[in-house]
Amino acid sequence: MSKIGALDLIGNTPMLHLKTLDPKPGVEIHAKLEFMNPTGSIKDRIIAYMVQKGVDAGKINNNTTLVEGSSGNTGASVSMIASSMGLKSILFVPDKCSDEKIAIIKSYGAEVIVKPASAPVTSDEEYGNAAAKRARENADFYHIDQYNSQLNPEAHYMTTGKEIWDDMNGKIDAFVATASTGGTISGIAKRLKENDPNIKIILADPEGSIYKPYFDGKEDYMSYKKSFKVEGAGKGALVEAMNFDILDEAVSFNDENAISMVLRLSRQEGLMVGGSSGGNVWTALEIAKRMEAPAKIVTVLPDSGFKYLSKIFNPKWLNEIGLGHLTAY
Ligand SMILES: Cc1ncc(COP(=O)(O)O)c(C=O)c1O
Repeated sequence: MSKIGALDLIGNTPMLHLKTLDPKPGVEIHAKLEFMNPTGSIKDRIIAYMVQKGVDAGKINNNTTLVEGSSGNTGASVSMIASSMGLKSILFVPDKCSDEKIAIIKSYGAEVIVKPASAPVTSDEEYGNAAAKRARENADFYHIDQYNSQLNPEAHYMTTGKEIWDDMNGKIDAFVATASTGGTISGIAKRLKENDPNIKIILADPEGSIYKPYFDGKEDYMSYKKSFKVEGAGKGALVEAMNFDILDEAVSFNDENAISMVLRLSRQEGLMVGGSSGGNVWTALEIAKRMEAPAKIVTVLPDSGFKYLSKIFNPKWLNEIGLGHLTAY
C-alpha cells in the first residue's frame, strides 16, 4: 500500500551498526537514523504526537495557530505538520540558528521571528519565553511547549524507545544521547529501563551546558554555562521535560570532539549528520572503549548534515571558530 502523506513517513527509522567505529571486536555502536524523518530530524516524532494529542483533547481545531520556540528542528516539524493539517504556525528561533534551518522552517509556510541567543533565560526576549508570551495573547494560539510538556518524552517512550528495543531485539548494554529539552533521552530511557533495568543511560553533554554539572551535584551548576557551537544539544537552564533521575552517568564533549566525529561519519560511514549526532557518537565511542565484548551501545543521529552546509561543512566557518585544521581530516 502506498503511503498517504508526509505524516505517515514519520518514525520507523533504520538502525545502523557503525561498523568502522567498533573500538574492539564484539563491542558495537549502533545508531538510529533520525535524520531520515520527513523534515530531516527526530523532532517530527514529538510534534506529530503532541499535535495529535491536542486534537484529541479538543485543544487544536481548524482555527488554531501553532506557536513554539525552537532552535530550528522543532520549528521545521511544527511548520511542516501545521501546513499538512491546514493550520498556521509562528516560530521563535535564536539567532545562533543556521540560515538553512530558518530557510527550511519558512519553506513549509511558518512565520519566523528571530531572537538573540544571548538573552537572559528569564527575559521576555529569550526565544522560548517570547513564544509563551505570544501564545497567551490569543485564544486560537496553541503553545507546543516542548521544553515543559510531558507529551514530549511520552512521544519518545511510545515510538523511538519502543522501536530501539525492537530494532536491537532487546540486546542493549548502554544508550547514549544529548539532551536539550530532554525529551529524547528521558522518553527512550524510560522504555529501555522498563524493559531491562541493567541498560546504562548516558547523557552526552556539550561543555557549556549546565546539565552535566547539575547531574554531578555541583551547587554552582549555573556558573558552568558558556556558549558553544553545537546546535540542539545541552541547555543553560533546567526544564520540565528532562528527567535526571533516569540517568546513570553524564559525559562532556566539546565542539571539536563533536565536529571531528561529524566529519568522520560523513567520510567514513557515508552518513551526513549534524553536530549533536557527532557528540552522541563521540561519546558512544568513549563508552564503548571501556566496555568488554560482547557489548552493544546504541545512540541516535538526531538530524541531517544538510542543515549545516554553511557551518560544519563550510571550511571558512570552521576556520572562524578555530577548527580549520579539521577540514584536512
Ligand atoms: C539537532 C538536535 N539534536 C538533539 C536534540 C536534543 O533532543 P531533545 O530536545 O529531545 O533533548 C535536538 C533538540 O532540539 C536537536 O535539535
